[in-house]
Amino acid sequence: MAIVAPSILSADFANLQRELDEMKALGIRWAHIDIMDGHFVPNITVGIPVVESLRRVTDLTLDVHLMITEPIRYARRFCQAGADLVTVHLEADTQENILEAIREIHAMGKKAGISVKPGTPAQALEPFLDQVELILVMTVEPGFGGQRFMADMMPKLSALRDRLAQVNPGCLLEVDGGIDAVTAPIVKENGAGVLVSGSAYFRSSDKGRFIADLAR
Ligand code: DX5
Ligand code: ZN
Repeated sequence: MAIVAPSILSADFANLQRELDEMKALGIRWAHIDIMDGHFVPNITVGIPVVESLRRVTDLTLDVHLMITEPIRYARRFCQAGADLVTVHLEADTQENILEAIREIHAMGKKAGISVKPGTPAQALEPFLDQVELILVMTVEPGFGGQRFMADMMPKLSALRDRLAQVNPGCLLEVDGGIDAVTAPIVKENGAGVLVSGSAYFRSSDKGRFIADLAR
């Protein structure tokens, strides 16, 4: 069974508590929160106060995806705000600083993830593979919900699945971007264990069934 993590980027931002309560009632365990700074990606979303507010009203696992430049500046504060898992982008700083950000997340007692944009090859993740609890393979260019799934990321995903089996078998492999009932079987076949879904989940007229389909 895969973990499905709805991305609140496509939720009604005026009613986030209601959306999280609905997820919980459907048996969903994770909520994915996209943090964008208008610099690493050409879009701006929400920040630390929103994570703090959501933490107060839910016990769902808060899976925070930082699409921000130099995440080391804020990683600790997102942990303090109540994130359970903080994912940083490999492309957002030097290798040394990204490793330091991961160490800070662990020092705060949280799980750390690292993400790669579509243009970044699997080999670039080698120095990080045994340092994290989650690897996030973007299946769209980060920045916006509702984009088309990039099937050409599948060789990268399966290569990472094979490498993780050798060096860090407990590490979760997450995909994000364009995941729906059609693309979910493809990503699961290639090793994904955590599926982020934004627009397809929130558009769905039967969310319970949608989640069951994706998790299966
Ligand atoms: C995109 C974000 C995603 C986004 C996915 O940069 O990281 O989490 O919400 O949205 P969909 O599922 O609509 O592609
Ligand atoms: Zn995301």
